[in-house]
Amino acid sequence: MIQLGVNIDHVATLRQVRGGRYPDPVAAAEAAERGGADGITVHLREDRRHIQERDVALLRETVQTKINLEMAAIPSMVDFARRWSPADVCLVPEKRHELTTEGGLEVAGAVDHLREIIASLTGSGIRVSLFIDPSLAQVEAAVRVGAPVVELHTGRYAEAVGGAARKAALRDLREAARRAMELGLVVHAGHGLNYHNVQPVAAIAGIRELNIGHAIIARAIFSGLEGAVATMKRLMREAAGGCGPTA
Ligand code: PXP
Repeated sequence: MIQLGVNIDHVATLRQVRGGRYPDPVAAAEAAERGGADGITVHLREDRRHIQERDVALLRETVQTKINLEMAAIPSMVDFARRWSPADVCLVPEKRHELTTEGGLEVAGAVDHLREIIASLTGSGIRVSLFIDPSLAQVEAAVRVGAPVVELHTGRYAEAVGGAARKAALRDLREAARRAMELGLVVHAGHGLNYHNVQPVAAIAGIRELNIGHAIIARAIFSGLEGAVATMKRLMREAAGGCGPTA
């Protein structure tokens, strides 16, 4: 059965905009689990623009399903992951000025480095996945460095304009997934998936997990906005004695 990892980074983004205490990604994780999330995904970026170390520490105490920590393949993050030991770590390329993770890891160009990092995390009982573009070369390189899981970057598919481009991107995802499974890898996918484009990816044979964030958090604003306005108005009216001009 395909699983859903809910990425809650954007709840933290909203909190960081004001530097306050809410909305708390820990509460978001609990809500996501109530909705059926099979796992909670967070990206602890080097610039700490959304998720903070405190979030990971608290999630480690509260998450009932499993934590998937996305992180750069750097020694300080390896130390962090080994301290908090999430079930999964997804190694991603990280550029300071990008809006979001823009492409997959260049695995073939960093074989020794990645092999060492994967061995260290695996030795601590953490399952490692590599976020890669859907290319056969990257899949084969992932096997060489000893990763048990790959997460195929669906960004090109999600951003494709026109049927032909989308079809080609989907074909690449299918071929990469097929090759990865042939080589014994577990296959995940994610990035840019939303309520309109998720189904063709979810239908790819063998994909075990999708990690989705932005679209779910964006939809949650609208499924909750009506009630949020009504509650604010009720509080105001109660305090003002219910005798405003439009009461
Ligand atoms: N998977 C990985 C590895 C990511 O870096 C991200 C974005 O943080 C996602 C999935 C989720 O992408 P989105 O927020 O576009 O659903």
